[in-house]
Amino acid sequence: MHKAVMLVFLLAPAMVGCRDRAPVPAETAAPSPAAEASRALPSPAGLIANIEHRSTTSLNGPWHFIVDPYETGYYDYRHQPRKDGYFLRATPKTPRDLVEYDFERSETLQVPGDWNSQRKELFYYEGAVWYERSFTYRRPPGRRVFLSVGAANYTARVWMNGEAACEHEGGFTGFNCEVTALVKDGDNFVVIMVSNARRRDAVPTDVTDWWNYGGLTRDVELVDVPSTFLEDYSVQLARPAPDTIEGWIQLNGGSVPVAMRIPELKITQTLQPDAAGRASFRVPAPNLRRWSPEQPTLYDVEFETPGEVVRDRIGFRTIEVRGRDILLNGTPVFLRGVCLHEEAPLRSGRSATEEDAKTALGWVKELNGNFARLAHYPHNRNMARVADHAGLMLWSEIPVYWTIAWENPATLANAKRQLAEMIRRDRNRASVIIWSVGNETPVTPARLAFMTELVASARELDGGRPIAAALETHYAEPNVKIIDDPLGKELDIIGCNEYVGWYERTPEDADLISWKTPYDKPLIMSEFGGDAKAGLHGSADARWTEEYQESLYRHQIGMLRRIDFLRGMTPWILMDFRSPRRVLPGVQDNYNRKGLVSEKGEKKKAFAVLREYYAQVAAQPAK
Ligand code: GCU
Repeated sequence: MHKAVMLVFLLAPAMVGCRDRAPVPAETAAPSPAAEASRALPSPAGLIANIEHRSTTSLNGPWHFIVDPYETGYYDYRHQPRKDGYFLRATPKTPRDLVEYDFERSETLQVPGDWNSQRKELFYYEGAVWYERSFTYRRPPGRRVFLSVGAANYTARVWMNGEAACEHEGGFTGFNCEVTALVKDGDNFVVIMVSNARRRDAVPTDVTDWWNYGGLTRDVELVDVPSTFLEDYSVQLARPAPDTIEGWIQLNGGSVPVAMRIPELKITQTLQPDAAGRASFRVPAPNLRRWSPEQPTLYDVEFETPGEVVRDRIGFRTIEVRGRDILLNGTPVFLRGVCLHEEAPLRSGRSATEEDAKTALGWVKELNGNFARLAHYPHNRNMARVADHAGLMLWSEIPVYWTIAWENPATLANAKRQLAEMIRRDRNRASVIIWSVGNETPVTPARLAFMTELVASARELDGGRPIAAALETHYAEPNVKIIDDPLGKELDIIGCNEYVGWYERTPEDADLISWKTPYDKPLIMSEFGGDAKAGLHGSADARWTEEYQESLYRHQIGMLRRIDFLRGMTPWILMDFRSPRRVLPGVQDNYNRKGLVSEKGEKKKAFAVLREYYAQVAAQPAK
């Protein structure tokens, strides 16, 4: 008997559960960050600007998926990265072969899209999901190929034909990996391991008031470019000489002459980048029509390198702060706005389409608005493109939200990278007028140091836009609110969130309250509001009713118009959005109900209150 058992033990380890005793690595505990880093996939390549106007091959559509809560496809039972992970997309070659997954026979998820709203069983799922897609490709001779992902929430590891391509952290900014050496003529396959597992040291951290939609939530495509190509560029009005266009270009792969053209302005320039592929330019543009909400003029701008013409549609405007005023094209402006999440209008889930952007921004226009705060993370690229055309100004923000791990250097590096990715993608969008470095962060020395570094990075990356953040407030006296957060000193524009009438006091108390700040800077009231279930009616002091929300807005508007340093407002929020923190049955049902519009598109009574007020404000010359 004993011999027989031994025999089986040796012949078929898998059968009895024991296996070849893999050499026990030095560290049996979870690999140290350094060890983890040493096994990390490569970092993404520099973010390629204006992907949507390049030579691309879309990989959108159905992708096979495998749900992998234990990350079995990546780690072995000793928590060591596997050499035979799911990225190989292995299939059994012989009947003996042991392969315990099969993408081909797995179901599909739509890309772009989150998995939570596509599959009932994944509604609450947080963890790893493997995406696989095969495609046929013919690599254009002499060109480089990149795989571009518009966004993957939250971490993504990318393999092309079984070879590591790159990995990225951050759920709301795009990245691209160079796959020139990995992609083949003919059949190819790409595998992406996405995880939306929340972490305390991540950005955002593990608690937010929005749904943690996971997946490949934005466009995935192959981009092919010449061996030396235009990686990034900036084209804006010069400050303080606004009848001059200035900017720079950054090539990748060498230095070649670049033709820059703005045909409608009869501007043609040949740029000669230096050895590092960089060139700057300044050209007079006396007849230029400025971009503004009233006249959202856009110009064709072209950059030609050997093998590629990159076309863009760019509006030219100046935006600056002078004392307590925000000046658009040198004229004081009042920002009539509203906040919005990147939730798909009328169907919920992550939105990624131009259609979604048009619907949401169409409602902002219907409110007589000229501004929107994109909360609390960079939205998809369609938002700013549609806003450029529609003449809407935007506040764009990184998800440094609530209580981040302020003393963790990796968290700061992560936040800085997301800031750089946000600014790189939208720096040429006229509609984007404000960069925000965070929301409702606590007043502590560690946080102040962290945020001050972020503000400095933002200025370095783009000195042409005011920097803001949404701060909190407190009472200086019983009915006097003060905004004296020390971070205010670093900012150009003060954002402030307040919930008088909802989280504190009554809607009517707003009539009693006045505001002050030590800062000689413009204020944007970046959040206020209250929940209402669309169609729920009752008396004005009955919470959750449309009448309560309507009354709250009336009293808020009364209070806000008495603030002499107020230069804009973005009530919370345009549309009801999903949040796992909102569980009141029959009312919230996993939705934050502070929207002026329900997730089904029903306009609540407060919508009309704000629309009327904005019509009045629009009719008056800005203060
Ligand atoms: C906060 C926060 C939002 C949140 C809102 C609310 O101020 O910034 O993200 O959804 O309040 O409580 O509804």
